[in-house]
Amino acid sequence: MRDMRSIILAAGKGTRMKSEVPKVLHTICGEPMINYVLKVVKSVGSFKTYVVLGHKLKLVQQNLPQEIAVIEQKKQTGTAAAIQCAEKALKNYSGNILILCGDAPLLSKKSLKQLVQKHKKKRAACTFLTTVVHDPQGYGRVIRDLSGVAGAIREDKDASGLEKNIVEINVGVYCFQSKVLFEGLKQIKRNKKKKEFYLTDIIEILYERKQKIETVEIDNPAEGLGINTQEDLAVAEAFIQKRILRNFMLQGVRIMDPNTTYIDADVKIGTDTLIKPFTVIEKGVRIGKKCVIGPFAHLRNDTKVGNDVELGNFTEVVRTKIDDGCFMKHFSYLGDAVVGSNVNIGAGTVVANFDGKNKHVTRIAKKAFIGSGSVLISPVKIGEKAMVGAGSVVTKNKNIPSGSVIMGVPAKIISRRADK
Ligand code: UD1
Ligand code: CA
Repeated sequence: MRDMRSIILAAGKGTRMKSEVPKVLHTICGEPMINYVLKVVKSVGSFKTYVVLGHKLKLVQQNLPQEIAVIEQKKQTGTAAAIQCAEKALKNYSGNILILCGDAPLLSKKSLKQLVQKHKKKRAACTFLTTVVHDPQGYGRVIRDLSGVAGAIREDKDASGLEKNIVEINVGVYCFQSKVLFEGLKQIKRNKKKKEFYLTDIIEILYERKQKIETVEIDNPAEGLGINTQEDLAVAEAFIQKRILRNFMLQGVRIMDPNTTYIDADVKIGTDTLIKPFTVIEKGVRIGKKCVIGPFAHLRNDTKVGNDVELGNFTEVVRTKIDDGCFMKHFSYLGDAVVGSNVNIGAGTVVANFDGKNKHVTRIAKKAFIGSGSVLISPVKIGEKAMVGAGSVVTKNKNIPSGSVIMGVPAKIISRRADK
């Protein structure tokens, strides 16, 4: 899109989070909050995006995709001041500019598209998103004139008693003609109470100049949630979690109890896989078709599970690849392991992958059978069709030949395994 640019505001300190982590890096379903905003912006077209950063700029920047341009706001003197920092970078540009807040991650593609479409169709100077909420406290209220035109946004702290009763709020997402925006910004005065320059004051300025102001009301007020506190963050987490689970169910994944199933963003699960209750599946995990996961399973980063695999209660898996047809049904841990197909991992098997300094790999070849209560001290290799007797401790650097039977503490090879 040649006639569009976007600016995401994310320089604020996020004081109300009471955290050392910059607000926009707090994660929701495993993904930094700001990534949701970047994703929704991308969904309306491909154009350049600028992110205004200030507080812990370097740290936030490291977590952004490379193509995102970063603009520094040295002093966080308000949302209008933040946009002004982008003026230089956009001085040769004359199209439309989308403005979003990095702390409002729940906005849907549909709502943002509606905003852009209406703005263009009406050739408005400014179009912004509003929504009607039960509890408008903390948000800017939309003040309309008798004909219904939005003529001002009044911040909560400045609202009169009557204005406080208004339940239509400013979501903090705007589309401006760039000239109108940068000219309007110059007129904004420092707010007397908060000593900040409010972007929202621009609406009244444009209204007085008889510029065309349009709004789009979003149906689901939850989408407009701005994350200011840890409590807001938990609400956002639940909202996005629901969206993720719903998408899996639409794709043919069976989720027995969505209320006790936690699946991060960027997880893939094949059809007819059953996820049983109290299961946590973290970002980046891949699960094939027709698997049974849980109850009480914990699948962590870099885990890849094939088809027809069962991971039962109290199993934890991290940085591990498990091929098709494997079973690990009761309280076991696999970390940094590579497991071939049709392996049976008995109850209570543990991979000791960390020697206190480094983590090492455990390789279990196909059709191996690991007896209950075994400890495999990595690095270690268990050959194809090898059998580890119950309660064995297989010490590090062992390379168990295929087809052998091994047992004891420490485990010793006692025979060849009869072919099944
Ligand atoms: C803002 C709006 C309010 C709206 C609400 C929606 C203003 C003045 N108010 O209020 O009308 O209802 O969002 O959630 O805009 N930021 C900067 N630099 C600054 C200050 C803020 O980049 O100097 C960024 C923050 O990091 C944040 C965003 O701007 O991502 C919004 O700032 P915040 O202080 O959270 O505004 P609200 O009080 O929530
Ligand atoms: Ca906010």
